[in-house]
Amino acid sequence: MTTLRPMDTETPTPARVDALREQMIAELRELKAIRTEAVENAVRAVPRHLFMPEVSLEKAYASEYSLTTVRNEQGVSLSSVSASRIQAFMLEQADIRPGMRVLEVGSGGYNAALIAELVGESGEVITIDIDPVVIDRARSLLPAAGYGHVQALVVDGEEGEPQHAPYDRIVVTVEAADLAPAWVDQLAENGRIVVPLRLRGLSWSVALQREQDHLVARDFEVCGFVPMRGAGARDMELVILHDGEGEEVGLRLDGEQVDAGQLREALSKPRTEAWSGVTLGLGLPYDDLELWLVSTLPEFALLAATRAARDRGVVASWSRRGVATLLDSSSGSFAYLTMRPTSPERTLFEFGAIAHGPEAAKVADRLIAEIQAWGRDHQGQQPELRARPAEAPGEASFRFTISWPDKR
Ligand SMILES: C[S@@+](CC[C@H](N)C(=O)[O-])C[C@H]1O[C@@H](n2cnc3c(N)ncnc32)[C@H](O)[C@@H]1O
Repeated sequence: MTTLRPMDTETPTPARVDALREQMIAELRELKAIRTEAVENAVRAVPRHLFMPEVSLEKAYASEYSLTTVRNEQGVSLSSVSASRIQAFMLEQADIRPGMRVLEVGSGGYNAALIAELVGESGEVITIDIDPVVIDRARSLLPAAGYGHVQALVVDGEEGEPQHAPYDRIVVTVEAADLAPAWVDQLAENGRIVVPLRLRGLSWSVALQREQDHLVARDFEVCGFVPMRGAGARDMELVILHDGEGEEVGLRLDGEQVDAGQLREALSKPRTEAWSGVTLGLGLPYDDLELWLVSTLPEFALLAATRAARDRGVVASWSRRGVATLLDSSSGSFAYLTMRPTSPERTLFEFGAIAHGPEAAKVADRLIAEIQAWGRDHQGQQPELRARPAEAPGEASFRFTISWPDKR
């Protein structure tokens, strides 16, 4: 495991810190990550650079910069101080008020200090992490920045922290493939859990509240977090479909079963293309399309590829995280989401499907039909996520369903 060393630099002037912090706040407002005075004031109050002594002031106050603080032997990030954009929008989702008792699962220091500002002197903040290195760091940085009253404890977040429960808010800052039953048990009656929830491989930060016997979320924000370790860890599987001189292509699977040999064979054969007529302006987000596909495709995976694999024509688009893919395991076929410019100016892009395998045309048509249903009836809509305790004893504790408003 590797950790960081503090930078050996001059003490920054307060004026320089203030200028950079105001610039970050303006950016976060522009990005709609900050939406309320309360979160803005918290971001203004906490000296973020004191929680990132290893990097320059400019990096500490860059709205999209996250600092990895612990890596494993393979270089994979195990802990980080998250980007302020993500922290701000999760705190907006959490709607933390003065006097509340808040549990943060996954620590770092800075976000706990923001929460301490939001709850004020009458509130209470407990931050927990599975990693003693992270808690040691938080225990030295929090008091130095004036937040010595925040309690930082080494605990596997899967257990929550029963000693201080019930919590008005539980803010989970590590990717979860399920809800830990302890979080729900330790939540106050009108409490709220904000969590980066991984649904079929893709993560959304959702704000869950109790409604009768289940929990409901109506606010989804795309996000990326380090995955949960410990008792709640649910690792994704990577099945390699093509490999050679930097041209890796693989399927990232979140519980789906596949015949890797069949799919490898399929990718080695010519592709079938189909186009939807559904278009999107350059650079615009389409995470609601991905959420639509996550909630409607019967078998789902993410096709991840390197740029070299795209450049050499093995795949049509490249992404390390992976693009939404419809699997048809009965025939060993699959179709993945792609885009093409509609004109040489490249201002508008059309969604399409690239398919391989014996039933390529059928699978491509199915993916196109879902893209068209989204474009026609659901683009820009927010669905509802319901989390119900699983009925059958199995690996997952909760069953998630996503429902969309009626057709427009
Ligand atoms: C993205 S970091 C948290 C960022 C932090 N909240 C901040 O202020 O920026 C995610 C943290 O979750 C921790 N973690 C992973 N699995 C955990 C678990 N089961 N329980 C508690 N913490 C866990 C990691 O050690 C890591 O420090």
